[in-house]
Amino acid sequence: MLNKKPLTWQTIVLHWIVGLSFIGVFGIGLYMVDLPRGPEKFEWISLHKSIGALILAAALIRFGWRLKEGALPPASKMPAWQDKAAKAVHGILLLATLAMPISGVAMSVGGGRAIEIFGWQVIAESAKTPWLQELGSTIHTSAVEILIFVFVLHVGGAIKHQVIDKDGTISRMLGRS
Ligand code: HEM
Ligand code: HEM
Repeated sequence: MLNKKPLTWQTIVLHWIVGLSFIGVFGIGLYMVDLPRGPEKFEWISLHKSIGALILAAALIRFGWRLKEGALPPASKMPAWQDKAAKAVHGILLLATLAMPISGVAMSVGGGRAIEIFGWQVIAESAKTPWLQELGSTIHTSAVEILIFVFVLHVGGAIKHQVIDKDGTISRMLGRS
């Protein structure tokens, strides 16, 4: 049985703004860490930090919106475990969109470095706080493999619903009924 109720435009717009920019920043992160120290690496890290900090703002709005609206209604009738699994995956991804930029900021601030969004300084350089840097770095880097796994589950599940179950899950997230 299909759920014909369309998703709100806020859910759709925030999903794609945060989701696609998250994938972009994630890719930049994986690319930049392997570059040799130098101006090119520095440029990529600056871009990573700028977009990452902007994602935090959008992710906070999105998180607030999800709290207000509650979880998405399932697009079709599915076994209870699948519904629970989808909700768990959404919860982990929502938390990741907050935890990744926050831990990135913690790592940079703990390392005494400034945070600039495309040249606009939001946090100035300061003395180092080693425990904060360590905590931020542990969260930021150890989340990587888990997130790749969860992301594959998320996109794989969405494609399975769209193509095999034909319940319009992806169409619904694209604003088509
Ligand atoms: C190309 C990549 C992506 C596709 C095709 C995709 C597809 C979808 C679809 C179809 C839904 C609706 C599921 C339903 O109806 O039950 C959904 C929801 C959701 N997606 Fe994605 N997604 C992608 C990337 C991402 C990324 C990168 C994140 C987070 C880092 C993310 C986080 C979420 C969350 C949290 C929800 C629950 C609704 C919400 O709070 O917006 N998605 N996604
Ligand atoms: C949605 C936001 C973000 C995502 C998805 C993300 C993702 C990543 C990833 C995948 C890496 C590579 C980690 C590795 O392979 O070891 C990385 C590294 C890094 N990120 Fe982020 N990041 C985000 C936001 C931020 C922010 C806001 C900052 C700082 C303000 C930041 C600072 C850094 C730094 C400094 C590194 C390099 C760490 C090192 O040299 O080991 N990130 N990030």
